[in-house]
Amino acid sequence: MSKTHNPRYYITTPIYYVNDVPHIGHAYTTIAADVMARYRRLRGDDVFFLTGSDEHGLKIEKAAEGNRERPIDLADRVVTGFMKLWKRLNISTNDFIRTTEERHRITVQHFFEHIKARGDIYLGEYQDWYCIPCESFWTDTQLIEGKCPDCKRVVEKLKEESYFFRMSRYQEQLLDYIEKNPDLIQPSYRKNEVVSFVKSGLRDLSISRTSFKWGIPVPGDERHVIYVWFDALVNYITAAGYPGDMERFNDTWPADLHLVGKDILRFHAIYWPTFLMAAGLPLPKKVFAHGWWTVEGEKMSKSKGNVVDPNEIIDRYGVDQFRYFLLREVPFGLDGDFSTTALVGRINGELANDLGNLLSRSIAMTIKYFDGVIPAPCSSEEIDRELIRTAEEAVSGLDGAMKEVAFQRGLTNIWSVVSFANKYIETNAPWALAKDEAKKERLQTVIYNTLESLRVTAILISPFMPDTAVKMWEALNIPTLFDEVKIGDARWGGLKTGTTLSKPAPLFPRVEEK
Ligand code: MSP
Repeated sequence: MSKTHNPRYYITTPIYYVNDVPHIGHAYTTIAADVMARYRRLRGDDVFFLTGSDEHGLKIEKAAEGNRERPIDLADRVVTGFMKLWKRLNISTNDFIRTTEERHRITVQHFFEHIKARGDIYLGEYQDWYCIPCESFWTDTQLIEGKCPDCKRVVEKLKEESYFFRMSRYQEQLLDYIEKNPDLIQPSYRKNEVVSFVKSGLRDLSISRTSFKWGIPVPGDERHVIYVWFDALVNYITAAGYPGDMERFNDTWPADLHLVGKDILRFHAIYWPTFLMAAGLPLPKKVFAHGWWTVEGEKMSKSKGNVVDPNEIIDRYGVDQFRYFLLREVPFGLDGDFSTTALVGRINGELANDLGNLLSRSIAMTIKYFDGVIPAPCSSEEIDRELIRTAEEAVSGLDGAMKEVAFQRGLTNIWSVVSFANKYIETNAPWALAKDEAKKERLQTVIYNTLESLRVTAILISPFMPDTAVKMWEALNIPTLFDEVKIGDARWGGLKTGTTLSKPAPLFPRVEEK
């Protein structure tokens, strides 16, 4: 089949459980995925960006029971909250999948039957410990002091007839695949954890339940519903068109990047690849696990009442400020702490002082010295070339960082332009040049270069702070629509001269810590 479009880039977030309203943990993965999706579009890729909701399973059934409502009503209500938040956060998804949709039921049942027909699903009996909050099984030896080794909560003994997936059969094949594809599981310290887990032995996996109803029925045996993780992981191929639209599927799958939190890496790096192997489908190219946020130094939990609602942060501090903070504060992959002090510090420092002031004073000088008309650059001195080099290096540095899913490094690369542009103004002192008519040409050059560095910065920050990029674009009065901008436009010298600028509103109002 011939491909007529640009390179395809398929990126996913986890699909979120609907027993809980969205918090910063959910926002984190989704914002990170959005930044990557926007960056790839900026590079010209044909991006397919997917998020959604995980709506089946005992956990959701119990939560609905507790509220005396039907699970689907609970799901409908909570999903609306997620969708609204993604809209506010400027999340540019191409699809939103709910596991209760018909298209997903068809895919899951087909996938199940297909693997069964290939001999890797069988009926057996199951007896183990089950942790409902984690939707995970544990053997006696895995329990820690009789409790779930992940969340330390009480587990229940389950004994029932169950369909099993022959995961044990794939242990060596998976280890071999991981070794030959060192990029599959990232960061590498997490890959090592996965490898030692697999080496400790893969057991067959129970993938159906008879003890509750809220799930997708096993085809041909309706007493059973399919285990929620088997159901949930399949969302990534449902949305790509499997099996109804194989042309689109073959064109979209495998995913280039599954972004997940470290707590659910095992499901994505062990279960999912072995399911796909059993089905004879290609494996995702990369699974990247990020770390967890604490809040003001403490683990976030409902019982502590310290769960951060992203809506409140946006109301108080702004969307781009929140997006920036999450990706700037910690290297992607490591754990981090969300604190008001840190957030306010970055907003007032890097955003308001470094970037916001750079824009407002550059435009103010253009107005003061050139009646707002962007002047033409003339001479070129070493410091100008250094500024240009810094901008060029930021473009390639950002690209390298994004290939490694290193958002923080991407941002520090961009900030090297912002910092250098500020230093450039101080060193060249336009206010002094303006006093001497003989230095008029030098003044033109300095103002042009400063404005041009802002144009380049606007392009580079756009995946991270899409609203801010457009505001900067408008402040620089650039006629092209920002939507049409591509990374190639970040080449130095793109700013047209002769356009008139006027005083913009501050990009980032300074904030007080409450
Ligand atoms: N439904 C499963 C995923 C199925 S994917 C096929 C699930 N859902 S979840 O609602 O619990 O959300 C999971 C995501 O939120 C995970 O990526 C998890 O790491 C992330 N976070 C939850 N709390 C978090 C923090 N405190 N910090 C960062 N991310 C956290 O698991």
